[in-house]
Amino acid sequence: EELTYSEAIEKAASSIGRFPLVPVRGVPLMSHIANNWDSVWAFKPDPSDILIATYPKAGTTWTQEIIDLLLHNGDAEACKRAPTPVRSPFLEIASPPPIPSGLDLLKKMNPPRLIKTHLPFQLVPPGFWENKCKVIYVARNAKDNLVSYYFFDQMNKTQPEPGPFDGYIHKFMRGELGWGSWYDHVKGYWLEREKKNILYLFYEDMKENPQREVERIMRYLDVSVSDEAVRQIVELTSFKNMKENPMANYSCIPSPVFDQSISPFMRKGEVGDWTNHFTAEQSKVFDEDYDKQMRDLDIPFRVML
Ligand code: A3P
Repeated sequence: EELTYSEAIEKAASSIGRFPLVPVRGVPLMSHIANNWDSVWAFKPDPSDILIATYPKAGTTWTQEIIDLLLHNGDAEACKRAPTPVRSPFLEIASPPPIPSGLDLLKKMNPPRLIKTHLPFQLVPPGFWENKCKVIYVARNAKDNLVSYYFFDQMNKTQPEPGPFDGYIHKFMRGELGWGSWYDHVKGYWLEREKKNILYLFYEDMKENPQREVERIMRYLDVSVSDEAVRQIVELTSFKNMKENPMANYSCIPSPVFDQSISPFMRKGEVGDWTNHFTAEQSKVFDEDYDKQMRDLDIPFRVML
């Protein structure tokens, strides 16, 4: 009999450790992803597949839930058929067997598939652009994104140890964390968004007015659900409801791999939590560097708070 996703992870847990980061075309990725890179790059999506791209911790899971619900007409039960990473596979992830890789899961699904990636723009497999797939990017302000990643790297036993917060800030600024530079990531998709018809969203906009953003996603995907279903989707994807939803809160990943007693996956879900973690001095250093790294962008970029 086939193992469930959780059972497979449980079985492999002893062979899962903190994977080192290995550069793929200059971008540090966990070694198991780097080892599997050629098959990821060769992936051929269906034109109907939808890609959700983010820097880690920018609101990926939230957006996956919104889109899965939109594709199921707001049907809460339908979207509890499996946990997030099974309903919406993580393209590049490749873990020790018997855990299915993202590509293994995708092979078993019929399009349209909702695919998650953290790859920066230049590493997105070219098949997505050749097939003109819909691509939704979510960006989150740098400091909240960093804080969220810092807590995640403590509870997620597959990524390198985050170490002390101050050192972590510097690793973030230098682009040394998994999936590389946040700055290059948000800029890469921003600069291509018109040419490639990418829907570029902001976590802060989703917090400010989730209904507006759900409707924006709906129009972009060319799906139509009733106003009532939109309201229901907003409600079902509130932070509180997703935190309590076992099919959305990553409780599917057993504690040797995601130790939610250290920090829950659904941690805080707020804008501006960075003020509780950065000192004034750290914030000053970060802001000065931010201005340097973002100044080549001649458009008003909104992810600084
Ligand atoms: P915090 O650590 O700041 O709480 P990702 O899904 O990309 O890994 O991002 C995880 C971050 O998004 C976490 O941020 C998590 O709490 C937050 N998040 C998840 N679901 C959310 C929701 N429905 N509303 C607001 N934030 C949410």
